[in-house]
Order: sequence, then structure tokens, then C-alpha cells
Amino acid sequence: MNIGINLSIDDIKKQNNNLDLLDIDILLKFVLKKPRSFLYANSDYILNEEQNKKLKRLIQQRKKGKPIAYIISEKEFYGLKFKVDKNTLIPRPETELIIDTVLKTHNNKKENLKILELGTGTGCIAITLAKLYPKSTIVATDNSLSVIKLCHKNIKLHNVSNITTIHSNWFANIPLQKFDLIISNPPYVSLKDKNLMNNETLYEPPNALFSDDNGLADLKKIISVASSFLQGYIILEHGYNHSSKIRAELAKYNYQKITSIKDASSIDRVTIAFFNHG
Ligand SMILES: C[S@@+](CC[C@H](N)C(=O)[O-])C[C@H]1O[C@@H](n2cnc3c(N)ncnc32)[C@H](O)[C@@H]1O
Repeated sequence: MNIGINLSIDDIKKQNNNLDLLDIDILLKFVLKKPRSFLYANSDYILNEEQNKKLKRLIQQRKKGKPIAYIISEKEFYGLKFKVDKNTLIPRPETELIIDTVLKTHNNKKENLKILELGTGTGCIAITLAKLYPKSTIVATDNSLSVIKLCHKNIKLHNVSNITTIHSNWFANIPLQKFDLIISNPPYVSLKDKNLMNNETLYEPPNALFSDDNGLADLKKIISVASSFLQGYIILEHGYNHSSKIRAELAKYNYQKITSIKDASSIDRVTIAFFNHG
């Protein structure tokens, strides 16, 4: 009888059929350090004792609800891999809309843009833009030092030299200057919606998720100060029910060309506006 050691890939999948198959594949890939194709071509492969023990531990974590990205310390964003840890938000697919919006407004990739990203987390937005616009210079900020530390690891991983980081509470430590583009995916979840969030989100840092004033407090702070630092576009990610309030707030501070853009679920997710000092 199989007593838990000498398990094959197939045995493990059968024993854990209450877990998502994709999750098991990701964990197997991670433990065996093999591509997914290996798992299918070698389903009778027997894991050694060490691999078995490690996998069992990770499967337990997953069953308790720990996000897969935190278990394997990695998440893909815009086709690139980023390190993640418990201090950083796990990059979301809907945030890729920010990158698509930049590509639409700035179609010359050789442009020498000055870009500011507020609340960089893993650095996924800043690093993706640094690679897409190699002649641009990017300032990436966060108010958490541990987040900045992880962002540096990702900057090194992707070998980009056109990003500098600043530890700052929004604009507080940024020397006054004009950027061509200001981008932010700030915390925007209302504390009232906390109970609607799934179990996995509870593993993520509250500083990256929640904001007062029904999720609008940080967005409003950014909008009120950004125009002093901007000669160009601002692109903001926001909550599912925020777009009309964000557009009104931008209009209040004399931004122009204000437009909200829908994500893949047809929800207004990003709002873009232009500021011209004349
Ligand atoms: C929603 S996460 C976005 C992370 C990353 N840009 C992304 O899109 O995956 C918001 C980020 O803003 C940072 N943050 C929260 N409050 C801040 C503040 N007052 N000043 C600067 N950054 C802040 C958090 O640490 C977190 O990394």
C-alpha cells in the first residue's frame, strides 16, 4: 500500500482532487523545478522524500487559503515574472489596463518620458514601463521600506537601469518637478467592502488595499497634489464604483480630457486625464 512516500505525480493529483488542478500543477512545477509539460509527459514520475515533504507542506498552505503567489513568491504581470512577498500586493491582471492605456497615449516607445509611479509595490508597473520605454526615466515610490526593498530585487531581476525609487508618503519626499506621466494604483478598497473580499485577500497588506472615505481618500489626495508635478497625463486605477467621483474630482482641479476605461469585466477601472500648465 502507498503510505505517503513514493507518490507519483498522478497519485498526488488524485489525492488532492479537491484542489484546483492548475494550483497543483503550479506547486508541482515549483517543487520539481520542471516545466508544466514535464508533469503531463511524466505523470508516473515518483517524487523523492524531500520533494514529497515540501509539496505536502505547500498543499496544506494552499488548502488554508494562502494565495499561490505568496507560496511560490512569484507572480506574472504583462508577461514578466515578479517576486512577491507578504509586504506587497499581488499584481492583478486588471492592472495591466494601466500599461495598455500608456501604450495608447504614448505610442512612440523611443520617447524620453519622465514618469512617476506612486505606490509601486512589486514595481510591476514601473518595471514593465521601464522595459517598454527604455529611453524614459521612471521614479517609483512607496511609503513602505520593505516594499521598496522588494521592488529593488525586481529591478535587479529585470536588469533595468532607468528606475529610481523614493520612500515617500505620496508626494511628500518628491522634489518638485514636472512629469510627463503620473501613474498610480493606490489603495482603494472601502473598509465597508472588507467582508465582501475573499479569504485570500486577507493575506495581503492592508496598507496596499484599504482607504478611508469609501476607498477614495488616497485617490483624492493624489489628484489634489498631482497637477503641481504634471505636464501631461495622469492614469489612475480605482474601485468598481468610483469612476464618476474620480472624474468629478479631476474636473474640480482643472484636469482636461477626462475619460474612464473599462476592464475585461466591463467595469470602469482606470481613469485618465490631462493637465496642461499652459
Ligand atoms: C494597490 S497597491 C499597488 C501596488 C502595485 N503598483 C501594483 O499595481 O501591483 C498600493 C501600493 O501603494 C502603497 N501605499 C499605500 N499608501 C501609500 C502612501 N501614503 N504613499 C505611498 N505609497 C503608499 C502600498 O504600500 C502599496 O504598495
